[in-house]
Amino acid sequence: MVGILRILSFILLLTCIFVSLSVGLAAAARDRKFTWEISYQHKSLDCYKKLAVAINGLTPGPTISAEQGDRIIVNVTNNLFMENVAIHWHGIRQRGTPWSDGTDGVSQCAIMPGETYTYEFVVDRAGTFMYHSHYGLQREAGLYGLITVSLPVGVSEPFSYDFDREIILSDWYHNTTYETATDLASIPFLWVGEPQSLLINGRGNYSCSGLAASVCNSTNPECLPSNLTVISGKTYRLRIASLTSLSALSFQIEDHEMTVVEADGHYVEPFVVNNLYIYSGETYSVLVTANQNSSRNYWTTINVVSRQPNTPNGIAIFNYDPIDYQKLPPTNPPPGPLWNDTKSQVNQSRAIKARQGFIVTPPKKPDRVIVLLNTQNTIDGYVRWSLNNVSHTLPSTPLLIAIKENMTGVFDPNPPPDDNDSANYDIYSVANNTNSVSSSSIYRLQFNSTVDIILQNANTMTANVSESHPWHLHGHDFWVLGYGEGKFNLSRDTETYNLADPIMKNTVPLHPYGWTALRFKADNPGVWLFHCHIEAHFFLGMLVVFESGVEQVGDIPLSNYGCGQTKSFIKP
Ligand code: C2O
Ligand code: CU
Repeated sequence: MVGILRILSFILLLTCIFVSLSVGLAAAARDRKFTWEISYQHKSLDCYKKLAVAINGLTPGPTISAEQGDRIIVNVTNNLFMENVAIHWHGIRQRGTPWSDGTDGVSQCAIMPGETYTYEFVVDRAGTFMYHSHYGLQREAGLYGLITVSLPVGVSEPFSYDFDREIILSDWYHNTTYETATDLASIPFLWVGEPQSLLINGRGNYSCSGLAASVCNSTNPECLPSNLTVISGKTYRLRIASLTSLSALSFQIEDHEMTVVEADGHYVEPFVVNNLYIYSGETYSVLVTANQNSSRNYWTTINVVSRQPNTPNGIAIFNYDPIDYQKLPPTNPPPGPLWNDTKSQVNQSRAIKARQGFIVTPPKKPDRVIVLLNTQNTIDGYVRWSLNNVSHTLPSTPLLIAIKENMTGVFDPNPPPDDNDSANYDIYSVANNTNSVSSSSIYRLQFNSTVDIILQNANTMTANVSESHPWHLHGHDFWVLGYGEGKFNLSRDTETYNLADPIMKNTVPLHPYGWTALRFKADNPGVWLFHCHIEAHFFLGMLVVFESGVEQVGDIPLSNYGCGQTKSFIKP
């Protein structure tokens, strides 16, 4: 009897070991579930009380931390009383799940107040990414956060550090998004102007002088400068993401050099900087060692570049443990680089190359070249942004569903131009573009083809002004083949492309009066936005849509339906 019991318990033990082993294996790629409630909240992020859009009461929202291969499941309930929601997972390619891209008008019907929608997707690459609202101008009301994806256990990064830290950069307006959107879409056009504050991890500092404490209170703990506490001698990996609505920024830590090691989820051949230029939609990892005099604190600052600033620099405290984290450094914050030092910005863009040993070689030649001339113009008196004289609009029926279901009448079936005589356009003269049109047309790319995009900048409607535009591609990473000044020349400049060690990214700046050349493979079935990441520019038509391989897309969840022409698909 005792013998049988022994054998039985031995079998039980074996079963336990086997079960835990297989659970252990399954845990290599797990489901990570999140429940988010989106609501309006009064926030004083820069001491001034403003209505913000928050996730579970927070802005910035909670960080999604996962491991490569995990499935992320986010249950989003829209508890906003007055507007829809859609959340985009910026930098996540959504291979096999193009319906989870979170883009209103492209991948889904936005989530209406009171409704719940579930996003489900796999994070197939390690790195630093972000999420944010992709509905109207909602991102700038505070609906954004970080996604960090670590390597599987046992795989290590090609660089070492002691601790990981997150830094979210943003800009902050006191106007509501409703006012801003209305003004952008009015005749006469009314521009909201420069942001009131710059935020580091959701904290800024607006001068409350002359304002009632109920409106603006500089002693509100919500707007204490954020701090980054470090231990002397240790090395930190700072994962920095810019979620600004408008501003291009320079980030720096007083007296501390930074080594750039990651950009948009790809390893960078390390290089050292005093300040990091970062454009909306970009992420970087930099390594910084706490190797300065540890008996004091230092400033962390951000300042606006690329536009003439009218926003005070953002500050945070780089705090050496065990000094009080609120103790201000004994120095003045470093002013940061000049806003119009375009050369140094272009130089830094060019310095970003793929890390040796991690180079993904691009195809030698493109199958198609699309030149996008970026201009500002008016259409019927409205101020718009155009690409090749087309200012794009998104339909009320999501394009992914429209194409998959062969609907007609949703978008203009005539394709927009691959080039519009950009060779003869004077990029230095004030844009007039009287022949600009608005259209819902899209670019249809042959599946698996290699596409080059040349972004060409130009003068705006104001003399001697050319703005920088951070362009972001959904669903893919592209190779950054080069940056140039002035007008792109197809025969001359293609010779200068970096085909040896180009970095792959999902967001890239187009510098004033310059061009940026990209290459990507249209290998992800779906419908994907490519747009300027400045909220107002996107709102004013600075976007294009790429379709490829939609016939290969699996069944789109019915929960994506319900708006525009997709209403008829919802049967009782
Ligand atoms: Cu982060 Cu379509 O954007
Ligand atoms: Cu732009």
